[in-house]
Amino acid sequence: MTSINQVDTFRLGSRTVKRLGYGAMQLAGPGVFGPPRDRDAALAVLREAVASGVDHIDTSDFYGPHVTNELIREALAPYPKNLTIVTKIGARRDEKGNWLPAFSREELILAVHDNLRNLGLELLEVVNLRSMFDMHGPAEGSIEVPLTVLAGLQREGLIRHIGLSNVTPTQVAESRGICEIACVQNHYNLAHRGDDSLIDDLARDGIPYVPFFPLGGFSPLQSSSLSEVAERLNATPMQVALAWLLRRSPNILLIPGTSSPAHLRENLTAAELRLPDDLMPALDRIASETAAVGASAE
Ligand SMILES: NC(=O)c1ccc[n+]([C@@H]2O[C@H](COP(=O)([O-])OP(=O)(O)OC[C@H]3O[C@@H](n4cnc5c(N)ncnc54)[C@H](OP(=O)(O)O)[C@@H]3O)[C@@H](O)[C@H]2O)c1
Repeated sequence: MTSINQVDTFRLGSRTVKRLGYGAMQLAGPGVFGPPRDRDAALAVLREAVASGVDHIDTSDFYGPHVTNELIREALAPYPKNLTIVTKIGARRDEKGNWLPAFSREELILAVHDNLRNLGLELLEVVNLRSMFDMHGPAEGSIEVPLTVLAGLQREGLIRHIGLSNVTPTQVAESRGICEIACVQNHYNLAHRGDDSLIDDLARDGIPYVPFFPLGGFSPLQSSSLSEVAERLNATPMQVALAWLLRRSPNILLIPGTSSPAHLRENLTAAELRLPDDLMPALDRIASETAAVGASAE
């Protein structure tokens, strides 16, 4: 079995976690809706992740909905003491699987209780408030009202730490004036680097940044530069993409998602990959190449 070697750690709320974790979203059915194609395989991936040393799992009760949390509970409860499960609220699914905002006080309270029940926990270690976004990314606007609801649930003892997801730097600054923020989870990877300065600002304050879609999400990254670097290092493009994130900043915590045991093993081994300085310019060019392709396609 693969085990996570040579990966350093970072503070996440009250815990210290390995910088290479696991994102559970891909365990639900197609489109993150309904049951997995292969339930036993989904349970096996979760068990193998934890047996390999993963101590940080990202989830939400709107994956499925409920499916991913129920799988995590079935595979892993009673949970190892060192396992940090981070969930997120602020959205819901309709009967067709569409993603809808769920930001009212009632919806947020319900979501926290759904997560507690489906994960089989009495306290959620970290809950991310997932903010609004449009097709271009996070949408500006105050998140004071929903954040205050979460802070109330934290005082009630249902949540230990509050994090943010899909947020702009302005929303991060606003939130930090309201309550302590344990982590920020936004879209970021080799080809999508809009949060470069936010990452550096958070690093200065010791706040973890957790990129979602670290491998490119539903369409994993494809780039000739990435493939060439991977070949030079005798690694896979996905391992290089993860190693680049680990090198990018010490406050980056990874949650690559997979429903495949083979991909899980491949991803965990990325912790051992060291990227030499001379290959960094080729990797840094990927973001501008991708932006140029996007612009010419518009
Ligand atoms: N806050 C938010 O709004 C938000 C949004 C999206 C995701 N998230 C979180 O972020 C986590 C990570 O994002 P993600 O899972 O969507 O995207 P990702 O980690 O960037 O990529 C997952 C995709 O890559 C494939 N993959 C994984 N490892 C691979 C490998 N070694 N080689 C080739 N393909 C590989 C997976 O397919 P296979 O299953 O076939 O391996 C899947 O299609 C999620 O699990 C979720 O917890 C949060």
